Amino acid sequence: MSLSAAVLCSCSQDLQLGEESSDTDEAEITAQMINVIETIGLNNAVDGFVTRVNQGKSLGCLTGSFQISQGLPERLQQGIFAQASSFPAYVRFANASVTDDREKDFHGMSIKLSGVDGDLLWGEDNNQQDFILNSYPVLFAANNNEFLSFLKATAGGAMWKFLINPLNWDSAMVLLRGREEINSPFDIRYWSTTPYRFGDDTSTAVKYSVKSCSTLTTDNPEASHENFLRDSMKSHLSQTDACFDFMVQFQNDPQSMPIENASSEWDEEESPFETVARLTIPSQEFQSESAMARCEEVTFNPWQSLSQHRPLGGINRARRAVYSEAGEFRNQHNASR
Ligand code: HEM
Repeated sequence: MSLSAAVLCSCSQDLQLGEESSDTDEAEITAQMINVIETIGLNNAVDGFVTRVNQGKSLGCLTGSFQISQGLPERLQQGIFAQASSFPAYVRFANASVTDDREKDFHGMSIKLSGVDGDLLWGEDNNQQDFILNSYPVLFAANNNEFLSFLKATAGGAMWKFLINPLNWDSAMVLLRGREEINSPFDIRYWSTTPYRFGDDTSTAVKYSVKSCSTLTTDNPEASHENFLRDSMKSHLSQTDACFDFMVQFQNDPQSMPIENASSEWDEEESPFETVARLTIPSQEFQSESAMARCEEVTFNPWQSLSQHRPLGGINRARRAVYSEAGEFRNQHNASR
């Protein structure tokens, strides 16, 4: 689907529910992002191996089952939530920027469902629906310009310049507050931070959140070393499945719950999250060489999606080309080493 098929207006305010607005320089900013991301990837490469510039440390990729909640009210039966009762899931857990698990960081959870019925907006393989989530309710950048400034500062090795600029203080606060020490990626909560359509009605928009529903939490990790989060996951799975509830939160006010500001949290009291599915991850070998290699190679894209779950807002529009190009760049580079 082209962007024109979406509800796009060139105004920046007075947007209606589910409505987006676009900046004229979006394509140029996206192209600059892709350039800078490739530079960062090459700068950070270890032994010539390029990892993801965000969520670069794979803690593991695991298979599971994504079960749609039974008896959902009609307004929640949209897209995949009106299809099969369960989908095979492939789930990647990651540290955003640190290689030592003992350090504070953001953490990522990327979910790829297969067996999805319908035409995808973008896709490497058919029948897949991706959901990409982060361990903090908001993104540090409100829009693509702010994200690009951050990327340029990262590439230039001058993050301090970005952080001390008063224009970026809101971003700096999120970057400071959002990093956490965790005991297990199975224990925490994740958010999409950006909005998505929910169904064919163009006035609907939701954000996603995924919350642990495991009966077990890792209160005392067995040993603290740089890769201890994998031990926590393994230990958890040796005792019981990992369990996550997948939830949606409806936009019910276009001003207080904006589409075009990824750093704005949608108030949970104003619009509570509602559970629509449950993800269960059973015990499995996820640390073998082949499993970790596949985990490095796999690519996710918010646009690998049915139109009923179309990504919304400028940040999401940029991510279509960014994730596609970044994934291809690192995989091609690594294959030619
Ligand atoms: C314009 C804004 C953004 C840019 C430029 C950007 C950039 C990137 C890039 C280049 C990657 C690596 C892709 C690859 O090499 O395969 C990535 C991965 C990731 N990003 Fe973003 N990102 C943006 C917004 C977001 C947002 C809003 C979230 C919130 C959930 C997010 C969460 C993630 C996660 C979880 C991954 C790991 C995906 C995986 O498991 O492969 N990003 N991002």
